[in-house]
Amino acid sequence: MKVENIDKHFETFFSELRQGVQTFILPLSSKEKGNVTSVATGIAKVSGLPGVGFEELVKFPGEILGIAFNLDPDELGVVLLRNYWDLHAGDDVHRTGKVMDICVGEGLLGRIIDPLGRPLDDKGSLSTTERYPIERPARPIMDRAAVTVPLQTGLKVIDALIPVGRGQRELILGDRQTGKTAIAIDTILNQHDQNVLCVYCAIGQRASSIAKTAAILDQKGAFNYTVMIVSEGNDPPGLTYIAPYAATSIAEFFMDAGRDVLIVYDDLTHHARAYREISLLLRRPPGREA
Ligand SMILES: Nc1ncnc2c1ncn2[C@@H]1O[C@H](COP(=O)(O)OP(=O)(O)O)[C@@H](O)[C@H]1O
Ligand SMILES: [Mg+2]
Repeated sequence: MKVENIDKHFETFFSELRQGVQTFILPLSSKEKGNVTSVATGIAKVSGLPGVGFEELVKFPGEILGIAFNLDPDELGVVLLRNYWDLHAGDDVHRTGKVMDICVGEGLLGRIIDPLGRPLDDKGSLSTTERYPIERPARPIMDRAAVTVPLQTGLKVIDALIPVGRGQRELILGDRQTGKTAIAIDTILNQHDQNVLCVYCAIGQRASSIAKTAAILDQKGAFNYTVMIVSEGNDPPGLTYIAPYAATSIAEFFMDAGRDVLIVYDDLTHHARAYREISLLLRRPPGREA
């Protein structure tokens, strides 16, 4: 190769390099970092994150997530969504800049997931593309259509005496072991030919009862049109607390798609207990809206 040719090659090479260097802009972004000051059952106190918003998701080491719940001037009360045994005072905490959200979509039908959107069954990963925040403003009352279509529970005495309508809420009250869950499950089973999708939210139940419910739904073929959102009794209270919100967002996705949806919260006693636990640990008033 001739010497002048090498020169030319070098020249083109370096001029491209120079151009690259000139157009390269170092991307600078600011990141807030705080520290864990204390960890208790299901909650953590964090200092040094003054910019955090209410209900913002914060990240601890080991992919542990938490929701900023108490915003004091110098300290933050965070509800943890994973087990916290590996968390220590002094650990780093990062902001995520977003609120808690959950995957939604047709792909959830037939699946059992936890309130963070992780599958609990053995059917592989979820095929969803959209996410909804778990807390959204509700539709204003005046925008809602009147209740005109009945929701058949399949229990003659209920459908005849106190019919339930689509778009209505119905509270099932009773002592334990009196068949409240049985009514809810029967109603889900009865929707097989009613063109109604079902969302069953098990809140803080024992794993054995959840397995029993899942087996009944599976046996009777109800999983074709049902999503199960599950938080178990030994999950952190934060997870139990967000379970009904996550379930509602999933149901609202189907509603936005024009479908009729039946959503069952089973049961809200456990939710009240989880909320009370979190509130007392965060030194907030423990009462909760119905
Ligand atoms: N109509 C019924 N007749 C007889 N047994 C029932 C009936 N409904 C429910 N059961 C039984 O009662 C037990 C408790 O029902 P469950 O629905 O779990 O109660 P709850 O949710 O109110 O605690 C279950 O073993 C269930 O099979
Ligand atoms: Mg029950």
